[in-house]
Amino acid sequence: MHAITIPEPGGPEALVWAEVPDPVPGDGEVLVEVVSSAVNRADVLQRQGFYNPPPGASPYPGLECAGRIAALGPGVTGWAVGDEVCALLSGGGYAEKVAVPVGQLLPVPHGVDLTTAAALPEVTATVWSNVFMVAHLRPGETLLVHGGSSGIGTMAIQLAKAVGARVAVTAGSPQKLAECAALGADILIDYREQDFVAELEKATGGAGADVILDIVGAKYLDRNVKALAVNGRLAIIGLQGGVKGELNLGALLTKRAAVTATSLRGRPLGEKASIIAAVREHVWPLIADGVVRPVVDRTVPMADAAEAHRVLESSAHIGKVLLATPNA
Ligand SMILES: NC(=O)c1ccc[n+]([C@@H]2O[C@H](COP(=O)([O-])OP(=O)(O)OC[C@H]3O[C@@H](n4cnc5c(N)ncnc54)[C@H](OP(=O)(O)O)[C@@H]3O)[C@@H](O)[C@H]2O)c1
Repeated sequence: MHAITIPEPGGPEALVWAEVPDPVPGDGEVLVEVVSSAVNRADVLQRQGFYNPPPGASPYPGLECAGRIAALGPGVTGWAVGDEVCALLSGGGYAEKVAVPVGQLLPVPHGVDLTTAAALPEVTATVWSNVFMVAHLRPGETLLVHGGSSGIGTMAIQLAKAVGARVAVTAGSPQKLAECAALGADILIDYREQDFVAELEKATGGAGADVILDIVGAKYLDRNVKALAVNGRLAIIGLQGGVKGELNLGALLTKRAAVTATSLRGRPLGEKASIIAAVREHVWPLIADGVVRPVVDRTVPMADAAEAHRVLESSAHIGKVLLATPNA
């Protein structure tokens, strides 16, 4: 098969479409013939040599895919050769074939075409596990989503609205904010022009956000704590603004607030399987009913993954950037 390899870490040109051995599905795994994958920020870090795959994962980048089951490994039940699926991966999505633990497989939701289904596993699993399983966002509460137009942000807005929450977003341009509004966001903050703490305070009558989904990390830690409501929950999933910050425990204590930080890729198989089961139970019906939809900026041939990385790094995109294989 062909896969995107990284012979030497570096810029987008480090991504090389090359012939490599086919993966072999192990116990409890299926072999998926990949039709599409999607680009995540983590892939850029892996390409640059800053984010090695966890032990046992494929060496190729790609944290999600869609395709057809081509073979079953030992002990697999409940899935058949030819089934159309999408999947959460620990790596290896940028390839024509990938071996996937069955706990990370999802059927393609009703109403979504196979290529587009690759836009769903990573954002649905990340948003559901953080905003709902960890931070327990409830109807009537306010969620602040940083980076509302990102792949993660576009899914977080829709899921929070679907459960009856109020949604505030930050984004870097009026065009991106307009797209967030079209997805249901109620409070729009241009973080390049406005102070999100002051804007949120104004929009919530001083109450603040019950839950914040944060992709910035250290640079926003102090302001995020200021923006939290009493009993607020700050869920950190990205560190685009650095890893080390100063946490005002006094402010946290007064607000009886919580700070959590999680990463999906390295979690044990059992935890990933629980998250995927929850996504299938709670998110898939919302997609099938048309309440929530995948947001795709563009689809690029997988052999041109370098171009897709350039788009992601320029932040010109809204939603997900997909990679289509010759199987599409
Ligand atoms: N922990 C996990 O398990 C997990 C899983 C998936 C993703 N993530 C993280 O979640 C983040 C989003 O992922 P993605 O794949 O959806 O990325 P993405 O589509 O590339 O989006 C990143 C966006 O962040 C926005 N941004 C940058 N600085 C910002 C700031 N100071 N305030 C608000 N927005 C800002 C940029 O848009 P503007 O033009 O508006 O700046 C950019 O479009 C990444 O940091 C990724 O590493 C974590």
